[in-house]
Amino acid sequence: MTLSSDSPNDAIDLNGSLGSANSQEIAFRVQSLCRSYFLKGETVHALRGVSFDVLAGEYIAIMGPSGSGKSTLLNVLGCLDRPTSGKYLLAGDDVAQINDHQLSRIRGRRIGFVFQSYNLLQQLNVLENIKVPLQYQGLLQKDAIRICQQLAERVGLGDRLYHRPTELSGGQQQRVAIARSLVNDPYFILADEATGNLDSRTTEEVLDLFESLNDDGKTIIMITHEDEVAARAKRVIRLRDGLIESDVLN
Ligand SMILES: Nc1ncnc2c1ncn2[C@@H]1O[C@H](COP(=O)(O)OP(=O)(O)OP(=O)(O)O)[C@@H](O)[C@H]1O
Ligand SMILES: [Mg+2]
Repeated sequence: MTLSSDSPNDAIDLNGSLGSANSQEIAFRVQSLCRSYFLKGETVHALRGVSFDVLAGEYIAIMGPSGSGKSTLLNVLGCLDRPTSGKYLLAGDDVAQINDHQLSRIRGRRIGFVFQSYNLLQQLNVLENIKVPLQYQGLLQKDAIRICQQLAERVGLGDRLYHRPTELSGGQQQRVAIARSLVNDPYFILADEATGNLDSRTTEEVLDLFESLNDDGKTIIMITHEDEVAARAKRVIRLRDGLIESDVLN
């Protein structure tokens, strides 16, 4: 499998084993990753040499104080940003060698993002929001709708297909965002404080969903400030001042 291929069969090549559980396969590897921001003559070293491997099928919580580099790391892992130095190997391919066009295809098709603020389109209903990433995939409309309907059911919103975000609870909105993140059957899901806006009961619901996705083999990396949330993951990586402070199995 090659990530950087841009052939018409790309989507098929990319449907490789990383989408499902293969406990020995390295989903990605970061080596001595650094990311500095240069702003008005000041340099902020957000990541100062971070190294770890993630195996396909892992469920990881990233913790650490505010400003420790968690979102910066997730942005690099999600190919939203490139490291200043160090390596990021995604399915064995060095991301530095992948051009911007290919990277945006990988980002759009193979990585699922979930954010604290849901980022749903307010004028679209549940089904339409889930369908957004499928827009340029050339699927027949009826197939796209069938996929989205199945995902809505998977996240427990089969009876809310035509509701708009304002007509849903926070937990329901986040479940729409999770369904949307799954629509391209990504290698992994990256979640930045996905439960940060939710009360404890709704947090549990979203975590139950993550757990069942992980049971099905999906690799999940989530940032959280909450110990109870991190306790549900199988591995916890703690950052401090742009470095890994600890990396332990739960
Ligand atoms: N675009 C940017 N330009 C300049 N500095 C930035 C930028 N983004 C982040 N930083 C700085 O990099 C450091 C790490 O930020 P990051 O957002 O990764 O922290 P975080 O661990 O996610 O924090 P939080 O828990 O508050 O979300 C911070 O000192 C921040 O001010
Ligand atoms: Mg952050």
